[in-house]
Amino acid sequence: MTSLLIRGGTVVRPTGDERADILINEGVIDEIFVRTTGPQKLLAADQTIEANGQLLFPGFIDCHVHFREPGMEQKGTMETESQSAVAGGVTTVCDMPNTNPPTVSIAALREKVRIAESMSACDIRFFFGVTQSEHIQELRHLWAEQEFVSLRDRCCGVKLYLDHSTGNQKAAKGVAEEAFRTCAELKIPLVVHCEDPVLNARAAKLNTRMDISAHSLIRAPESEQRAITVAVELAKGTGAHLHVAHLSTKRGLELVEQAKKDGLAVTCEVAPHHLFLSTEDYETLGTLGKMNPPLRTPDHGEALWAGIEKGTIDCVASDHAPHTFEEKQTVPVLTAPSGVPGVETMIPLLLTVAAGRWPHPRRRSFQPKLMYADIRRLCFDNPNRIFSLRQTAIEQGSMANLVLVQPEEEWEIRGAQLHSKCRWTPYEGWKVVGKATVAGRW
Ligand code: DOR
Ligand code: ZN
Repeated sequence: MTSLLIRGGTVVRPTGDERADILINEGVIDEIFVRTTGPQKLLAADQTIEANGQLLFPGFIDCHVHFREPGMEQKGTMETESQSAVAGGVTTVCDMPNTNPPTVSIAALREKVRIAESMSACDIRFFFGVTQSEHIQELRHLWAEQEFVSLRDRCCGVKLYLDHSTGNQKAAKGVAEEAFRTCAELKIPLVVHCEDPVLNARAAKLNTRMDISAHSLIRAPESEQRAITVAVELAKGTGAHLHVAHLSTKRGLELVEQAKKDGLAVTCEVAPHHLFLSTEDYETLGTLGKMNPPLRTPDHGEALWAGIEKGTIDCVASDHAPHTFEEKQTVPVLTAPSGVPGVETMIPLLLTVAAGRWPHPRRRSFQPKLMYADIRRLCFDNPNRIFSLRQTAIEQGSMANLVLVQPEEEWEIRGAQLHSKCRWTPYEGWKVVGKATVAGRW
């Protein structure tokens, strides 16, 4: 195909929607003809998509995924999980370092970049992990040498775990502070998994329960709050840009809000499972509802939605973390691996809320406020800016990277029909509206 015309779609922009015809030539947006009441301009192309009544977004960004390759290919590969992303309207992702080997060296990063080169439909960027001081030296080396410039371009930031999760990447003593200092100096965004290891260990020791919902007590809200307090203090002391990963608690949100008010470089993301699910869902999900940080009581989810409305929350990111269904069946249940897939369902769930519907089949009386322009801000503009991803929006002269949304199309989420290798979802059977299809990406 050499040229494509997308006719009559509504481009969702931060400044307001705009009905337009878009002509793409050899993968580049050649012309955007905004429809006004005046005379129409007739554009022609080899192929035409009639997009009347459809919404156009830039390809969405998911700034927190675990694509598992190399080393955990039974859960997912860059190929399978990229397909899942694209099927959900996501064309750029930022992959976490807890693979095997972990992305804590230039060699490991180079290998991931090499594998990702053939995934043309999805642009995969990588976080560099730091658990030991020597990883920080490696990071400094990566940032210092001219020969690594193209590798550096694929690295979107540094990831730091304050407690263990899948992959056991908890930072060693003193490494957190060194990571903050280094990221401040090199001007790299630092994404932090905020859970407190001392509180978690104490709660685990005191726990006598065996049922899955105990997971939310073992990694309690106070644990996240304490870790965010520590992280914000480090951001304040060093000047680093702190990005709080998968924020899940009311108090955590207040701490981020205060840090922003204090003028600190602090941003945050929330995951769909903390917006759409709660501890009430353990009953139906069992271990499929186990993740870190864990599900919270519904009041936390409501506070997170309010944080979106207020603009305190910068991004929605899936924390897409596939495990095989078999792996999730571990007994005793509290030893099941933590993590849920979500890259393919994130945008449809958000589109459903923007369409004025709440998709949870068992918890009906809740309708948060969300506009289509908010989805664009949370899943494109903000992550693009925070992680310097250099993706262009829908602009003349830029590479086409477009997602078409049928805002009224209802469909049912079925794990077996999703593209992640794990083939299950915590949203099984949920009815959503809004099908996102990647319309043009070269
Ligand atoms: O639930 C989670 N799963 N939380 C994490 O921090 C890691 C992730 C994974 O990689 O499975
Ligand atoms: Zn994660």
